[in-house]
Amino acid sequence: MNIPLANPARELKKIKNFQTRFNKKLNQGVYVGGKDVTTFEENIASYIGSKYCVAVNSGTDALLLSLIALGIKKGDKVVVPSFTFFATIEVVMHLGAIPIFVDINTETYTIDVDDFKKKVNQNIKAVIPVHLFGNNANIDEIKKICSTHNIKIIEDVAQAFGSGTENNTKLGSIGDIGAFSFFPSKTLGGIGDGGCIVTNNLSHYKKVLKLRNHGQGKNYEHEFVGANSRLDSLNAFVLNEKLSIFPEIKKSRDDFYDFYTKNLSHFDWIKLPIKENENTILNYFTITVPPLIRNKLLSYLNQHQIGASIYYKKPIHLQKAVLDRYKKISMEKTEKISKCVISLPFYSFPEDKELDYLISKINKFK
Ligand SMILES: Cc1ncc(COP(=O)(O)O)c(C=O)c1O
Repeated sequence: MNIPLANPARELKKIKNFQTRFNKKLNQGVYVGGKDVTTFEENIASYIGSKYCVAVNSGTDALLLSLIALGIKKGDKVVVPSFTFFATIEVVMHLGAIPIFVDINTETYTIDVDDFKKKVNQNIKAVIPVHLFGNNANIDEIKKICSTHNIKIIEDVAQAFGSGTENNTKLGSIGDIGAFSFFPSKTLGGIGDGGCIVTNNLSHYKKVLKLRNHGQGKNYEHEFVGANSRLDSLNAFVLNEKLSIFPEIKKSRDDFYDFYTKNLSHFDWIKLPIKENENTILNYFTITVPPLIRNKLLSYLNQHQIGASIYYKKPIHLQKAVLDRYKKISMEKTEKISKCVISLPFYSFPEDKELDYLISKINKFK
């Protein structure tokens, strides 16, 4: 049996008459822009509880265009975690801004607020808290600190679509801008690259609207240099369809989480992921194990066609692209955790026989 790490096509099978309606869309011939994109933006704004949404063509562009809209430029300092996907830092470096790395806490692997407080000063222009694996990166606490220091917040919600705070304010709606990814393996995953920004600020909204379309307000009137970063129409159609079954997606992921928790909690060498609060939807199910076991477990699972993977093996502050530009620093907890993590298959609507296979194989690991 083959158990993938993520299974975005499985969700399509749960949507009534999906193939027929998709084919109809395909035959209509609208592939860029159109009603499906604007409907998707309205749906996302309303689901997240933000005034505005702009769909773009990736989570990376959502972050990049957010930084530009907030006026981040060469030499500005932007606080980032190092335990994240490279894109979070890449966009800062693209603009010639300087990433200031903070360590993580060992419960949710998101920004360590105490380390953040130590690094905050009047030269910091922005922070990108990453809601890693779906967990809240202490956003309320970070917001309090930022408001007293006039620091802009771009929430990296690439892995946390649908997650909320304790009072269920949706992640992404709390900072100045929230940047989502709809990469196929994400909690809300499309049929290709995709992303969006959400904001309550009209001028950020207007700026990103133009940035994603070559800096155009009116057709062929280029007010500034932008990019080609539009969400494909067919992708928007599929994302709208998936959003319509999102309560089922959430329930199924919650059940999968409970299944793992029930069946793996007796292993004293496995630390299970926590959900920061009951409104959390995990994107990845990431356990930690002793470093000496980690690679052995990974090869064992992969040999049995179980798509386990490591997020993230090498912290960003140790990546060549970063070391080529900045002095080497050390980051104790980030470096320690990166040697222990392993993400197990985690997706919506797993079949019973898949769950049985997974647990029987993990049980036999020696
Ligand atoms: C934390 C994080 N930030 C940003 C991104 C970038 O998103 P995309 O792949 O859609 O460009 C990802 C996607 O993998 C991510 O996991």
